[in-house]
Amino acid sequence: MEERLIHPAPESPALSGALPPAPAAACGAAPALTVLYDGACPLCRREIALYRDLPALQPVRYLDVHDSASALPAGTTQPQLLARFHVQQPDGQLLDGARGFVALWAALPGWRWLARVARLPGVTPAMELAYRGFLRLRPAMQRVAAGLEPPALHVPPALRADLRSDHAGETGAVWIYRGLLATSRDPGVRALARAHLATEQGHLDSLRPVVRWPQRSWLLPGWRVAGFLTGALPALAGPRAVHATIAAVETFVDEHYREQLDRIDALPEPSRQAAAPLRALLAQCREDELAHRDEARAALTAPPGPLLRAWCAVVGSGSKIAVALARRV
Ligand SMILES: [Fe+2]
Ligand SMILES: [Fe+2]
Repeated sequence: MEERLIHPAPESPALSGALPPAPAAACGAAPALTVLYDGACPLCRREIALYRDLPALQPVRYLDVHDSASALPAGTTQPQLLARFHVQQPDGQLLDGARGFVALWAALPGWRWLARVARLPGVTPAMELAYRGFLRLRPAMQRVAAGLEPPALHVPPALRADLRSDHAGETGAVWIYRGLLATSRDPGVRALARAHLATEQGHLDSLRPVVRWPQRSWLLPGWRVAGFLTGALPALAGPRAVHATIAAVETFVDEHYREQLDRIDALPEPSRQAAAPLRALLAQCREDELAHRDEARAALTAPPGPLLRAWCAVVGSGSKIAVALARRV
């Protein structure tokens, strides 16, 4: 392994050496930009969480190089990748430090302006110097950040797969409402979507410290797409289809959370007591989902017709299949 392939000099105009191309993104044939980050670093996790929820302009996949199960790019080692931030371009070239950030920002809406600024003469080398300074301070900053992180709730081993599906489901829920807002122009639907989106984002934020990498579903990009379509498609048909869809989804989610609460209640002591904070979180989520369901049902001015009933059946079955998959992957 040649060191310069992994750590190109910031002044060098040439990119680092060619490596095997990154695999195609899960949702399409186009090869992905691969972000290689340290999942054990609380600073890195927070930054990646910020990027991850953005609808990237090209396929982007995030690889936790701290996870020993991660397949690293050929010719690299885990210590090398953990030492600095890296991004592998779709053609296999590996960029690190400031150049890696610039490549990632260029792929993210809302961040492209920063990539353009960074590409002005002299800016990327200056950013590289700043990044090297940050690396010296990083160990101390990591210790502070780790101490500030909320403690992860105890998850009984029997519920770990369920929690993975909960995290995946709340991710999908956030994207349902993003899909609605992207498609619907109905003021009532948009107001409902904004309110529900805030609640679902709160659920997701609560589950993030409980379900951390590598426990999360590796199919998250697919859940985002599925969620977006589940919101966007009925919005095209009108408010009634939207309300019927939300009622169908939340009816399923209510059952999903209720099953988990029942299983926690059935745990022997002291496991049940240890799981009490987790139970409180899941109970709150369920309560919110029930409120969403009831609000959607109340907004249904007429019973769904055969086509809408069929769509809702598809949504219900799809939710069951998604949970079964997310429990495993
Ligand atoms: Fe939720
Ligand atoms: Fe919900």
